[in-house]
Amino acid sequence: MSKLKVLTIANRKGGAGKSTCAAHIALEAVKANLKTILIDLDPQKTLETWWNLRDEDNPYLADSSATDIEKKIQSIKEKGFDLCIIDTPGDVSANTVAGIKVADLVLIPSKPTSPDLGAIGRTISMVNDENCPYVFLVTQAISRSNAALQAASVLSEFGAVAPAVISNRIAYVNAMSVGTSAGTIDKTAAEELASIWGFLSTKLFSKKGKTNGKEKI
Ligand SMILES: Nc1ncnc2c1ncn2[C@@H]1O[C@H](COP(=O)(O)OP(=O)(O)OP(=O)(O)O)[C@@H](O)[C@H]1O
Ligand SMILES: [Mg+2]
Repeated sequence: MSKLKVLTIANRKGGAGKSTCAAHIALEAVKANLKTILIDLDPQKTLETWWNLRDEDNPYLADSSATDIEKKIQSIKEKGFDLCIIDTPGDVSANTVAGIKVADLVLIPSKPTSPDLGAIGRTISMVNDENCPYVFLVTQAISRSNAALQAASVLSEFGAVAPAVISNRIAYVNAMSVGTSAGTIDKTAAEELASIWGFLSTKLFSKKGKTNGKEKI
């Protein structure tokens, strides 16, 4: 039986922070010694562009289209990977749905703003249509503002929310343009990423962390 888990990052709202989350979570997984692979289903290829700036193998990158994603996941399983992280476009295209269909867990990042929170129902419906467990992460939160707390409270009515936010920091922007993690240059980013990874790894890898008690076989 394969131990591979698939984490798909999705939000129908553009600019929610999906690709930034995907890259940073991947490096937390690598730090935890997981053999990790990325699939960038977004034609913009933000995640793949970040990956191309890196020298190290892990995380690895696989190409896939919406139509061959199931076959691709099967071959990734056979290669002994621990974690596959899929980035999706900010829309409701076939690529987004395909990424959600193969997920063990969907991470829905959201900015703590009214327009973003107001639109979150459309993403939740899309994930529910595929019957997939999901959790939320507040991103691009301005430090010393109440918005992040209020956002977490709104989101918690729909599902579990990561215990730390990804704050709005230039270190995240810089990390994406040089192929690294904000955590390597910014202590606050390192702390929040460690906390977010602790939460996600429990949801993904421990039976206790399952959001709805179901496990795919
Ligand atoms: N924590 C952060 N702090 C500061 N800027 C951020 C942060 N996260 C993302 N950004 C910036 O916000 C913009 C959108 O981020 P990102 O590309 O990760 O979002 P996305 O949801 O993948 O967007 P798209 O829907 O276009 O794929 C980028 O310019 C990115 O640099
Ligand atoms: Mg993106």
